[in-house]
Amino acid sequence: MKKIAIIGGGKMGTALAAKLKKEFSIQIVGRDSKMKPCDIVILAIKPQDFESLELNLQNELLISIMAGVNLKKLAEKTCAKKIVRSMPNLPLRVGAGFTGWISKNVKEKKLVKDIFSMFGEEIELKNEDAINAITALSGSGPAYFFYLCELMTEQACHFGFSKKDAEKIASNTLLGAAELVRNKTESFADLRASVSSKKGTTEAALNYFIRSNFAKLFKDGINRAKARSEKLNK
Ligand SMILES: NC(=O)c1ccc[n+]([C@@H]2O[C@H](COP(=O)([O-])OP(=O)(O)OC[C@H]3O[C@@H](n4cnc5c(N)ncnc54)[C@H](OP(=O)(O)O)[C@@H]3O)[C@@H](O)[C@H]2O)c1
Repeated sequence: MKKIAIIGGGKMGTALAAKLKKEFSIQIVGRDSKMKPCDIVILAIKPQDFESLELNLQNELLISIMAGVNLKKLAEKTCAKKIVRSMPNLPLRVGAGFTGWISKNVKEKKLVKDIFSMFGEEIELKNEDAINAITALSGSGPAYFFYLCELMTEQACHFGFSKKDAEKIASNTLLGAAELVRNKTESFADLRASVSSKKGTTEAALNYFIRSNFAKLFKDGINRAKARSEKLNK
């Protein structure tokens, strides 16, 4: 059984450990504990803590999930030869994560894919720039969805529903729609059209969103997340 050391036992580190312990021998390395010999090291600390981390890797495969730390910095700081830089997202906690990754000198790509598949779906990215895009899309994406949940809840409260009912309405509506997306045989636009009849209620809302240029606002927001990721990488 391969041995994995997870450095950083916070939100992501513990979520990773919960899934990985089914197939690997896992140790979580905290601030004051010493890492035991292992095959794979997963870096799950905050980028600001990485600066003061002392790590001298030899043949271990290094997998980083840290935002904003590029392959060059990872190699310089840890001496690792085989490196995977990845961007997972929070739904990995429930096995519905999405991870984009890129590697350097890694032959064990099947092992890497198998590891990320334990948390949901994964894609290997073509170049390191794509990490910035994936950070803005799938890394931050769950927060965009949670924001929509909050707004729908607020509006339901405004219509007179209790907070509890308002949350029930928002979460079930969005989860129901997400289920349709999961099983979809049509395009997103066709799904949207199937809820919007001519001159109907949904069309009234959607036409307002379109006229108000919601699309530009939303895409501009994603662009800002990408620009922030690029800046952090410098
Ligand atoms: N949260 C997300 O949705 C998400 C998504 C994708 C990627 N990430 C990345 O995942 C990483 C971890 O995020 P998180 O949300 O799990 O952060 P977190 O909850 O703050 O966890 C970080 C953990 O690392 C520990 N730590 C700090 N320095 C250490 C050291 N030198 N040795 C061992 N452990 C150390 C911290 O201990 P203390 O409590 O003592 O400080 C803390 O338990 C970040 O780099 C982030 O960019 C997060």
